Amino acid sequence: MRIGILGGTGRMGRGLAKAWAKKGHEIFLGSRFPDKVQQVAQQIANETGGKVYGVDLETAADEGEVVVLSLPYRTCSDWLKRLGNKLRGKIIIDITNPFGAVPEGQTSGVEENAKALEIPARWVAAFKTNFWTTLDSPVNKDGITRDCFFCGDDNEAKKVVAELISQVGFRPVDCGPLKAARILDLMVPLMIDLDRFFGGKGVCSWKLLD
Ligand SMILES: NC(=O)c1ccc[n+]([C@@H]2O[C@H](COP(=O)([O-])OP(=O)(O)OC[C@H]3O[C@@H](n4cnc5c(N)ncnc54)[C@H](OP(=O)(O)O)[C@@H]3O)[C@@H](O)[C@H]2O)c1
Repeated sequence: MRIGILGGTGRMGRGLAKAWAKKGHEIFLGSRFPDKVQQVAQQIANETGGKVYGVDLETAADEGEVVVLSLPYRTCSDWLKRLGNKLRGKIIIDITNPFGAVPEGQTSGVEENAKALEIPARWVAAFKTNFWTTLDSPVNKDGITRDCFFCGDDNEAKKVVAELISQVGFRPVDCGPLKAARILDLMVPLMIDLDRFFGGKGVCSWKLLD
């Protein structure tokens, strides 16, 4: 599958790119800076033996069958408006955390991003509650597989995203409709506080047990 990552040079973008390149996906890392992104893409390609290309944000949006939104939340609405039609009808994995930039509990980052795009797309929120540091250690030191909570309104898109989550090595946990992201958004600052309490190494994860 061709995956575009907007913000592909960032910590989350690089980690996801590595995991998916190893699984044989073609990765288009999108960045504002051509030299930087080509260097990062080359590094990941060398490390994984995969197909990883450094491109601008427009090309990453255009080339990706699935597009990951991995920009700082505050920058998303402008970029979504600019990218517009390139994202029409695509599966967009929104991993951005608004950290209080939207009225808490009443809406969510992903719902606001979907409104900003104005064009229909298949939005799935995922990876919001997973620290970047855990992307290369999906199984923790005690042998427990970390959970990745995701949600969305398009069941076919969610199946695709659940498979991509599994390919990172996490257990996908379907949290229901897109508006469940209102809760996921609030779990993130709590996770950061709890992680500090447990030593601040950025390696904590939520785990749902039965
Ligand atoms: N860090 C985590 O553990 C974590 C966990 C879950 C979710 N998230 C969310 O995932 C997203 C990415 O987080 P991250 O930690 O990977 O951030 P990061 O390391 O700061 O990377 C973000 C990337 O976004 C690009 N960027 C920055 N400002 C931009 C702008 N004004 N316009 C366009 N691109 C811009 C930069 O790429 P260029 O400079 O190459 O253009 C940068 O590499 C955020 O929304 C964050 O809340 C983070």
